[in-house]
Amino acid sequence: MSHKRIGILTSGGDCPGLNAVIRGVVKASSQLGYDCVGFLKGYEGLYDPVRYITLTHKNTSGILNQGGTILGSTNKGRFAATVGVADRVEIDPELLAGVKHTIDQLNIAGLVCIGGDGSLAVAQQFHEYGIPVVGVPKTIDNDLSATAFTFGFDSAVECATNALDRLHTTAASHERIMVIELMGRHAGWIALHAGIAGGGDVILLPEIGWTYENVCHKILDRESHGKRFSLVVVAEGAELPDGGLVGEEQSGAQAKLGGIGQIVAAEIERRLHREVRVSVLGHLQRGGAPTTFDRVLATQYGAHAVRLIVQGRLGEMVCYHPPEIESVPIIKAVNKLRTVEHHGSAVQAARALGISFGDCPADESPFAWNDISDVATSDDIEIDAEFTLDIAEAAAEEALAE
Ligand code: F6P
Repeated sequence: MSHKRIGILTSGGDCPGLNAVIRGVVKASSQLGYDCVGFLKGYEGLYDPVRYITLTHKNTSGILNQGGTILGSTNKGRFAATVGVADRVEIDPELLAGVKHTIDQLNIAGLVCIGGDGSLAVAQQFHEYGIPVVGVPKTIDNDLSATAFTFGFDSAVECATNALDRLHTTAASHERIMVIELMGRHAGWIALHAGIAGGGDVILLPEIGWTYENVCHKILDRESHGKRFSLVVVAEGAELPDGGLVGEEQSGAQAKLGGIGQIVAAEIERRLHREVRVSVLGHLQRGGAPTTFDRVLATQYGAHAVRLIVQGRLGEMVCYHPPEIESVPIIKAVNKLRTVEHHGSAVQAARALGISFGDCPADESPFAWNDISDVATSDDIEIDAEFTLDIAEAAAEEALAE
């Protein structure tokens, strides 16, 4: 029997930090006496033909800060049609049997599947079939439930924020309206965070309905305050006001979203007779080096995934519940997308700054904390001050009495 091994694969769309997880798994495994093999091109490398490489300290050295994945990945192919548990498509039993055979032949104690919701839904079916798997949540979209953060998200937000910083200066110089379309599929996390960090004036999200009237109202409101430029951040998965997503259907894979930025820009131009320019950031958000945050998160995920295998906690996915790295059954992570909450703190803070979500006119912003009565008023502070004074006086009297 060959030496005991841990397997790794990277599946679905790539993102910064995949190599950091691979390195983390290899280093942590070798400390515990396991060899590592990496399957090529996601799940495809597991069967017919089996394609893998032995992963060592040597061939994973220097990859911590490299974008992409040294193992390759795909979001198409024989395992790609299985998207989410809700729309579960059963994997061909012949494929499952083939994968199990590969895992047994290579004496793999556990397979670390690094992927988003679709890829982890495949891992769940492997688990149910008796193939030893653990999951690591990856996606720039940050839309997996059961974890506060997927690695890759922070790097994507950083890229989008840099783009907004750059748009800001040119928009101000030319007094232009700039529309930027960002990724994120059906979740608005990238647009929300980059919009806040990059000083967006309007943020259009999949989770909050909006109208052109309200978007234009915000732009005019800024103009009435002397700001003759505006930044409009649009998530690719935002719905148009009359309903519908913008993109293309793809057979055997999720719809390819994109194009809403152009539509929004054209309509603003038509209504306001102002110059509007569009940037679509696209895959720039998925490439390049991971941020420090993502390197640390990915490394922790890799080390923790090895721990799960060694402890026999198969069928679980590592997750981040700040400040702890923990784990949950994979099934809990893939049955529901984690989307932006209407009353979440980031949305509320954005509204407090006057950022428009296009859901109401600029002068009617529902800037309301969930329960404004909980916020201390200056009256409360005076009462507190009096109370403090009373205590101080009582303490002084006590001291004098002694
Ligand atoms: O899920 C990650 C993601 O980058 C989405 O934000 C985007 O909609 C999609 O993948 C793009 O996929 P592809 O690389 O197949 O065009």
